[in-house]
This record gives sequence, structure tokens and C-alpha cells, in this order.
Amino acid sequence: MTKPDQKKEAFVFDKVQHCYSGVPALEKIDLKINEGEKIAIVGPSGSGKTTLLNMLNASIQPTNGRIEILGKDSNLYSPKELKALRSNISLIPQNLALVNSFRVWQNVITGSIGDYSFPKLIKNLFAPSEKKLLEIHSILERVGIEEKLYSVTSTLSGGQKQRVAVARSIFQSPSTILADEPVSSVDPARAASLVKILLKVAEEEEATLLMSLHNLDLAIKHFPRIIGIRNGNIHFDQSPDQISQRQLEELYELKESEILQDG
Ligand SMILES: Nc1ncnc2c1ncn2[C@@H]1O[C@H](COP(=O)(O)OP(=O)(O)OP(=O)(O)O)[C@@H](O)[C@H]1O
Ligand SMILES: [Mg+2]
Repeated sequence: MTKPDQKKEAFVFDKVQHCYSGVPALEKIDLKINEGEKIAIVGPSGSGKTTLLNMLNASIQPTNGRIEILGKDSNLYSPKELKALRSNISLIPQNLALVNSFRVWQNVITGSIGDYSFPKLIKNLFAPSEKKLLEIHSILERVGIEEKLYSVTSTLSGGQKQRVAVARSIFQSPSTILADEPVSSVDPARAASLVKILLKVAEEEEATLLMSLHNLDLAIKHFPRIIGIRNGNIHFDQSPDQISQRQLEELYELKESEILQDG
């Protein structure tokens, strides 16, 4: 029997606006994202990339408009459902949110906070089974830092910490991975390697992947769909071969207020 090639919508934005203290960070965003898509979000600092990603797991709600997340209005999730949602839609935040005093394997375990009862979490955090540690070791192998399994997280480099945050996300077996600037503290070769790891994991797990990136070359080289955000608006939403040089220049153009005037 052939499988019907029907794409399911994972996220639908309908005229979504988000304001912080009355100031809009995102304005009237219309967007559809299908399950399994791999999308890079690019745009200048302060354009709204983090705000957009945080709306996808309902950490931030629209001020106006509505978002459907996995077929349900983001406002209609109960607190219990939200916990499950955030376990299913894993966010790797820009600041990584790792516990520096924990060993690497403990930080990976915290990815399952949404799935475990409190006693089970405590047991896994302080007396994990051999099987759990083997599982974490194999995830660390996928991100290339298996030798750091027992290291204290504070002793790791910025790039290694980013890999721990990716491993924590893989441990959740999410249906969506939201990665907010996951390659900010690594050299170009390691940045490309980490982007490829995330794309490979998403492919293998059939997960949707959205990644914000300051590195435009990485976005263009590795993603089939790129969303450019400028001043809280979608400036373009296209495949890399359709994006013009002009659109890219406009995306990063400085505003009047950002240009320092000489003496
Ligand atoms: N918690 C907050 N309170 C008030 N304003 C905020 C808050 N978070 C973001 N903003 C504002 O919203 C706008 C969008 O911010 P956001 O963090 O989404 O941008 P970004 O594209 O992720 O930037 P960067 O590339 O620097 O990470 C900015 O003007 C920012 O100052
Ligand atoms: Mg950001």
C-alpha cells in the first residue's frame, strides 16, 4: 500500500503580533510550517528571531492573532498539556540553560524533566541505571563529545556546551527541535559540523527543525527554506536559490537610528 504524501501542518500563525510592554517585537506574522520541515531563521539582532522561536512552544503567547501548535490553539493548552508540549517541542535556548555544576550526563537527563515524575527525575539525576548512562553515551557520540560524559559542565568550552545542549534535546526524542543560535560560540568548521549534526538528527528522528542563525552562509548552504525577519516582519520566506542579493542586503541594512553619526 502506498503512503499518501500528505503534509501535516505543525505550526500555523494567523496575523500574529507580540508586544513586550506595549512595544511590538513581531508584527502580523502569517506562517505555515509543515511537520518534518527544516527551516533557518535569519535576520539582524533584535529582529524577532528568539521571540518567534519562543512562540512555537507556547513560551510566549500572541498579543494579537493566533497560533495553532500541532493542531491546537496555543492559548487552549492546559498547564499539564503545556508541560508535555514543551517536552515534545524541544527548545535549545540562546543561553543554553545548562546547570554548570552538573556533570554532562546530568544535564542531558534534564531534557526529560517534562516526561518524568519528580521522584523519577531525582533518581535518574543522582542514581542513573547503567542502561540510562549507555543511552546518554550513545547520544553524546552522535554529537561528538562522548569522552565528556562524566565531565563537570563548567569545565567545557563554549562549543562543547552547545553540543551538550543539543544532546539534551535529542534525549527528549522531540517531534520538533527549536535551536536558537546553536553555533554562536564555535569556529566556522565546528559551526558547520554542529548544523549538520542537528539536520541529521532531525532527518533520522523525522523531526521538524527550526534554527535561528546569524551565519547566513550556513543557512543558505544547508537549509531548503529560509525565513528572513526584519523589524518584526517576514522580509522573505523562500528556498535559498530564490533569494536575491538585494533581499539579503535589505535584510541587514542598518536603520537610521543604528548608524553612528561622526562628530
Ligand atoms: N523580555 C523582553 N522584554 C522586553 N523587550 C524584549 C524582550 N525580549 C526581546 N525584546 C525586544 O524584542 C525585540 C526582538 O527581540 P529578539 O530577542 O526576539 O530578537 P533576535 O532577533 O532574537 O535578536 P538576536 O539576534 O540579538 O538574538 C528586540 O527589540 C528586543 O529588544
Ligand atoms: Mg535571539
